[in-house]
Amino acid sequence: MSDILTATGVDLSYGKQLAVRDAHLSVAPGEVVAITGQSGSGKSSLLYCLAGVLPPTRGQVRFEGQALDELTDDEISALRRERFGFVFQYGELLPELTVEENTALPLRLAGQRKKPALAAAGKVLDRLGLSELRERRPGQVSGGQSQRVAVARSLVHQPALVFADEPTGSLDSANADAVLKEFLGLARSQGTAVILVTHDPGIAAQADTHYTMADGVLGPRGAA
Ligand SMILES: Nc1ncnc2c1ncn2[C@@H]1O[C@H](COP(=O)(O)OP(=O)(O)OP(=O)(O)O)[C@@H](O)[C@H]1O
Ligand SMILES: [Mg+2]
Repeated sequence: MSDILTATGVDLSYGKQLAVRDAHLSVAPGEVVAITGQSGSGKSSLLYCLAGVLPPTRGQVRFEGQALDELTDDEISALRRERFGFVFQYGELLPELTVEENTALPLRLAGQRKKPALAAAGKVLDRLGLSELRERRPGQVSGGQSQRVAVARSLVHQPALVFADEPTGSLDSANADAVLKEFLGLARSQGTAVILVTHDPGIAAQADTHYTMADGVLGPRGAA
């Protein structure tokens, strides 16, 4: 099958600082791609370009054949909302919403009514063993639990591709491993591709494909 995401010759500069240089990358449907590299090597910057959060200074990103730089801001927002999922380092749940409402958020943003959205959220929470936490707010759950909720939220709308930037960064290694296994298991079962940014080579080994990044330069595609 043809790739869903391709980046060709992507540079990203912050003023004079070149954070990403000439990056080439491709992601197949359902593929789990890990990107590792030291702090400051440009992993998050590359992810922002791939997800259409920051426009590359040079080069191009295509999603399902469509160049992101040819889309309007509204079209990019809709793409991010409907076809992409995101997990960040600290989970970043909305404190005023319950676990269930946080999980349902992508569906609500896509215009789904409350009842079916919460029902779908409940199913994903169930799969991740989080049903008892449905009514709690983020302040009333542990760090590991809140990362699991963030994982549930990133997958609830069955996106084509999830961008995960150090998704287990705030957890100890045993917890990180458990959350990651659940995350990748669920993503694989629904055919969602994942781009997983991590410092940790052990985590990257669970991916299908592995790229390493150093000083803004993304290495060649390799097996994990
Ligand atoms: N908004 C910004 N303005 C200026 N420079 C930035 C900005 N964001 C990042 N940088 C610089 O760009 C380079 C790449 O940063 P980036 O955050 O992409 O690295 P990273 O690999 O994600 O690091 P980490 O593993 O610590 O998250 C670094 O030198 C960083 O200082
Ligand atoms: Mg980063």
